[in-house]
This record gives sequence, C-alpha cells and structure tokens, in this order.
Amino acid sequence: MREDVQNAVNHVDQHRLWQRHVEMAKIGAIPGSGVNRAAFSKEDIEARKLLISWARARNFTVAMDAIGNLFVRRAGTDAHAAPVMAGSHMDSQPRGGRFDGIYGVLAALEALEAIEEAGATTRHPIELVAWSNEEGGRFAPCTMGSAVYTGAKALSDFLAVKDNEGIALGDALAETLAATPATGKRERNAPAAAYVEAHIEQGPLLEQEGKTIGVVTGIQGLRWFNVEVFGESAHAGTTPVGARKDALRDAIAAINALHELTRDASDTVRFTVGRMLVTPNSPNSVAGHVLFSVDVRHPDLATVARLGDAVEPAVRNAAKHCSVKVTPTLHDDPCAFDPAVADCIERAARALELPHRRMASGASHDAMYMSRVCPTGMIFVPCESGISHNEAENAKPEDLAAGARVLTAALLELANR
Ligand code: GLV
Ligand code: MN
Ligand code: MN
Repeated sequence: MREDVQNAVNHVDQHRLWQRHVEMAKIGAIPGSGVNRAAFSKEDIEARKLLISWARARNFTVAMDAIGNLFVRRAGTDAHAAPVMAGSHMDSQPRGGRFDGIYGVLAALEALEAIEEAGATTRHPIELVAWSNEEGGRFAPCTMGSAVYTGAKALSDFLAVKDNEGIALGDALAETLAATPATGKRERNAPAAAYVEAHIEQGPLLEQEGKTIGVVTGIQGLRWFNVEVFGESAHAGTTPVGARKDALRDAIAAINALHELTRDASDTVRFTVGRMLVTPNSPNSVAGHVLFSVDVRHPDLATVARLGDAVEPAVRNAAKHCSVKVTPTLHDDPCAFDPAVADCIERAARALELPHRRMASGASHDAMYMSRVCPTGMIFVPCESGISHNEAENAKPEDLAAGARVLTAALLELANR
C-alpha cells in the first residue's frame, strides 16, 4: 500500500466511528436496541442535522438536492473533476437496527475525516452521500433517492405516494427540506466518477466463514407491486357468507396463490408480503378494501421477469369475489458492479491483510442505481447471525472500522485516477 494511503488509513478511528453509531442510534431508538427512523420523519430530520453538524465541524461543504439526498464534500485539486462518492442511507425500517444504512454514511464520514487528518490531496473531490428513503418502509418503493438522482425515476413520480397515515411524500419531503439548516443546492444527474457503498452484509456468510470484508459483485433483481382488493364492507353478524365481497378473504387467496407461484425447491426465489392495510379493520365488519405489497427477487434476469409478469394473472385468478388492481411500483433488473472497482476494494482488503471474499448482495442498495451511471462497488462487513431488518441487528466495532479502512484506501485510489 502506498505510504500516503496507509497514512490516511491509520487515521481511521474505531472509537469515533463506534461512538457516532451510538449517537445516531439514540435518534428514533426503540426497545430492543433498534431504531425507527422513517424517511422524512422528525427522526430523519434530526439525524440529518447531526450529520451536518459533524460535516461543518470539519469545514466540509454540505448540499442537498430536490429529493433531500444530502451531500458532504471534501474538495479535490482538479476543479473540473467529478466527485468520487461514498455513502448509504440514514432512514430505517419501522423496527430496524442500528447499522443498516447508517454504517455506510458514517464509514464515508470516517474516511473523509481520516483523509483530512492525514492531509492527503486527491484529484477528484470525495463526496459522502446520504440517500433519501432507501428503505421504502414508510413511502414505497425503496431506493427512491438514488433512483431520482440518477434519473431512473422522476421526483414527480413519487410526490403523491402516501404512508399508512395518508401523509403524502411531497408534504413530508417539503417539511424535511425546510427543517434542514441552510445547505448548498446539488443538481440531480450530476456526473460521478465512481461510487462505493459500505454496508453490513445482512446475511450470515461472512460471519460463518470468518471473513471481515465482502467484495460485492452485484445485486439480485427485484420487483414490487401494490395489490388492491376491492370488496364491500358488511355486517359480520348478518350478512350471509355466500353473499359477501370479502376483500380480506380474496387477499389471502391471492397471497396463497403467489406463494405457489414462487415455490422454488432451490430456495433462491425471495417472495414477501410484508405490508397490509385492511379497511375498515374492525372485527365485526367484512373487509371492504385491502392493500398489500409484493416483493419478489431473484439473481437471474429472466426469472425476475417471468415471476413479476405472473403476479397480476395469479392475483386475478385467485380473487373470486372482488375486483383487483395490481400496480407495479419497482422493477430493478439484477446488476453487476464494475470489476475494476471490485478489484480496487479487494486490493485494499489484501493490503490490509483482512480476510475477504467476493459475494453477491441479496438486499437491494442505492449502489444498484449508481452502477448505471458510474463505476460502482460495495464493501460488506459481517453482522451478528446475519440478522437485519430487526431491532437485534448487531455488528462489531472492529469489523466496522476494518470496512472503513478498506473504504478509505479504495476512495483514495479512485480519487487519484
Ligand atoms: C433494502 O432494504 C431492501 O429491501 O433490500
Ligand atoms: Mn440498507
Ligand atoms: Mn434495509
């Protein structure tokens, strides 16, 4: 490893990085060591303010774009060079853990600070990005900030999306933008020289194999749908069962049909119904309306296409008493990351003598959209028993720091190309 790179890596401070996770985990803390920091909530705003305060303490430049993606930049020597970017997200699942997303943001900040303390110069600016609404737990779908930043989707596509309380994304976003202290404006679609995202693995492989670093090769494909079943609310005690249009009964039949559709002896297909809204949601009223989500994933392009295309016919066929509406909300093909970025990450892991392996990601990440516009890669670190999207999510300070060291080295190499 070059001396200046090693010097910057040596400034990565495990204690500082861990303490920042502790501070962030206080924002939206829930019982069981978890966090609930929904996108564009008051907790999200608080997390943004804390990150901005840390960035300003170093005199890094802070900017936001129209969907609230937050950027923290350390200048490079070439005023015309596009930034090398690194980051992840600060929002969480409703019952999420202390590491999913926030680790990639804090690792990027740690890398920026280490590089600053080492006094290293880079040709490209290095820019931390905290993407808005990666999780999609409040406003579906997921990875919205990066979809809009990269031009894959228009912001206007999302403004009317409502949360479970009926609040429109556009209103929550406007509050978030207004509440965040004055920042510079960042253009969407601005060119990026490269993007590297650090993240906990969210699976068990690294821990099982005693590896510290996962060099991520790509992300499996996924499709999301909202399924609405329109029935008729009726009295539970008086309406003959044969005369009902029971939306919940048909929703259950549809979900069972989708389980059959996605049955897979190799257990590679991932199929989830994780959200359901029942109206009027009363024990003695027949359900008049049900909305449920569908999330289906597979590493193979043709299989994602086939399964996704079969969702609506399967639902229509299963709903015997009600009408249905199936709305696709997300369709992301499997993506392969740039081999040169993977090589760069692997070189850093090897030079730092960290046990590592190449692996694909089962979870989706903003790196998926970034891979469409610039050379992209991801660094995984182990998490306890592979548990994620759960309050019990846990990771070791030394593994988080190891990932931040690899990130620092990779960013320095990419920013001096
Ligand atoms: C991101 O959290 C995903 O759903 O994979
Ligand atoms: Mn995540
Ligand atoms: Mn997540």
